[in-house]
Amino acid sequence: MLEINVLSPRKGSNPGGSCSFRAGNRLVSGYFKYCHTNKIRKSALRVEHQPIYEQVTLQLARDIGLKTIDSYVLSNLDRSVKFKGWKGREKQDTDPNNRDFYFLSVYIPKSVVIAEKEYRKAGETTVILDSRDDMTKIARVFQREDVYLRTLLVSDVVGKRQNYVFNPHRGVDGEIVYLDLGCSFVKAVGGDMLLPRGLKKCGSREVRRMKKKLRGVQLISAKNDNFVDLESLSEQIPDLKIPMLNPRRNVPLQDLLTSSEMEEVEGYVLQGIVENLPRLKKRDLICKL
Ligand SMILES: Nc1ncnc2c1ncn2[C@@H]1O[C@H](COP(=O)(O)OP(=O)(O)O)[C@@H](O)[C@H]1O
Ligand SMILES: [Mg+2]
Repeated sequence: MLEINVLSPRKGSNPGGSCSFRAGNRLVSGYFKYCHTNKIRKSALRVEHQPIYEQVTLQLARDIGLKTIDSYVLSNLDRSVKFKGWKGREKQDTDPNNRDFYFLSVYIPKSVVIAEKEYRKAGETTVILDSRDDMTKIARVFQREDVYLRTLLVSDVVGKRQNYVFNPHRGVDGEIVYLDLGCSFVKAVGGDMLLPRGLKKCGSREVRRMKKKLRGVQLISAKNDNFVDLESLSEQIPDLKIPMLNPRRNVPLQDLLTSSEMEEVEGYVLQGIVENLPRLKKRDLICKL
């Protein structure tokens, strides 16, 4: 049994909150969240699996060289997870218990998030006021990384200060750590799961056509230290390692999703890559073998 102590109401639009739990001898602080309503029609995707889809985006982001929070999928298929202390925190909050999966990230302490920064409290949320110097640096990092976010169909980060952490002391321009990639090939908003505008479910012919375009195409990673083969990136989706917390291990995606779900996910991921190829080429981030 894993006990999760809920310590705050939701801080974003999706149900969840900050929490603490025991992992071995350690008390870990985290943030959990989930979705409850599927707004995608004619799809194999299931709202219970939204935390897994979010983890897929985070893994892909790491694979192409972006820095993200440490995150896990918490499985409750055997109903061994118990949430305590959620009651009465917020009117709209529903009982988080008895769901199949949760998304859980390891909390980045406030002292790091807002170290040496000015901030102001607006109700429950802390609004971070970046210095002029940091704002310039953040803009520079986004100028480089925005194209990678677009390739993964991630919206809701650039210009959404609450969805990333900025550490000005790393690298030349500082480093952005992405917190919330919950709006990518599926969007998670207010507990609803929906498809972003313009994205469509692809048949196998369309998938083959897109893969052909990516044959031999290598992407220079965001860290500029690696080449990522784009065809393999999509082909390896079933083998993508999903970090699970209970027990702590990596599980291949194919053990968690059905093959029709994975095919659908692959179709969405491919659309993002193919659509952004011209943009990536323009930035000189593509090499062809
Ligand atoms: N691991 C974390 N460390 C620090 N703050 C976090 C973490 N996870 C979430 N938060 C805070 O909680 C807010 C809501 O989490 P988020 O993942 O953005 O959920 P939502 O999908 O509801 O927007 C974030 O904007 C951020 O301020
Ligand atoms: Mg958010």
